Amino acid sequence: MERWRIRALRWEDLGDLERVEEAVHGGRVEQWRRGDWERALRLWPELAVVATGEEDRAIGHCVGMALGPVGGVMQLAVASEWQGRGVGGGLLDAVLARLRNRGVRYCFLTVRPENLRAIALYRRRGFEMVGVRADYYGKGFSALVMGRG
Ligand SMILES: CC(C)(COP(=O)(O)OP(=O)(O)OC[C@H]1O[C@@H](n2cnc3c(N)ncnc32)[C@H](O)[C@@H]1OP(=O)(O)O)[C@@H](O)C(=O)NCCC(=O)NCCS
Repeated sequence: MERWRIRALRWEDLGDLERVEEAVHGGRVEQWRRGDWERALRLWPELAVVATGEEDRAIGHCVGMALGPVGGVMQLAVASEWQGRGVGGGLLDAVLARLRNRGVRYCFLTVRPENLRAIALYRRRGFEMVGVRADYYGKGFSALVMGRG
C-alpha cells in the first residue's frame, strides 16, 4: 500500500470512485453520483485525474472544469486509508497544471467551512477566500468560495 501514481480518469474507474465518494461523503449533497461523473467525462475528460494504488485501482480523484479563462476544481477526494500521504496534494497539483495548460487564468472551488484540512491544502496552493455561498450544501449549510489567479 505504499506506492501510488496519477493518471487520467477512465470510465472503468467509476465503480472504485463511487466507493471512495460514498466512504468520504457518506451520502451528503456533495457526493458525486453516476450522472456527475458522466457529465464531467463528457465535457472535460482531460481535466479528470485519479490516483491509483495496487493493481492500478483508483484510490482518489480530482476533477476540474473550464469555461474559457475561468476554471474550477469540482471534486477532490482520497480514500481514508490513503489520506495524509500526499495523494490529495498530488491530485490537486495535476488538475491545476492541466487547467493552466488549457489557458485557465482564474480558478474557483467551494469547500465546507469546517473542512480545515482541505482549506489548509487549498491555501498552500495559493487559493484565497473570495466569498460565501449561503445554503450551498442545503438549508443552513454555507460553502466558502476560494479562488486563485
Ligand atoms: C482533503 C483531502 C482530499 C486531502 O487529501 P490527502 O491525500 O489527505 O492530502 P495530502 O496527504 O496530500 O495532504 C494535503 C496537505 O495537507 C497536509 N496535511 C496532511 N495531513 C494533515 C492533517 N491531519 N491536518 C492538516 N494538514 C494535513 C499535508 O502536509 C499536505 O500539504 P502539502 O501538500 O502542502 O505538503 C482528503 O482529506 C479527503 O479526501 N477528504 C475528504 C473529502 C474532502 O473533504 N474533499 C475536499 C472537499 S472540498
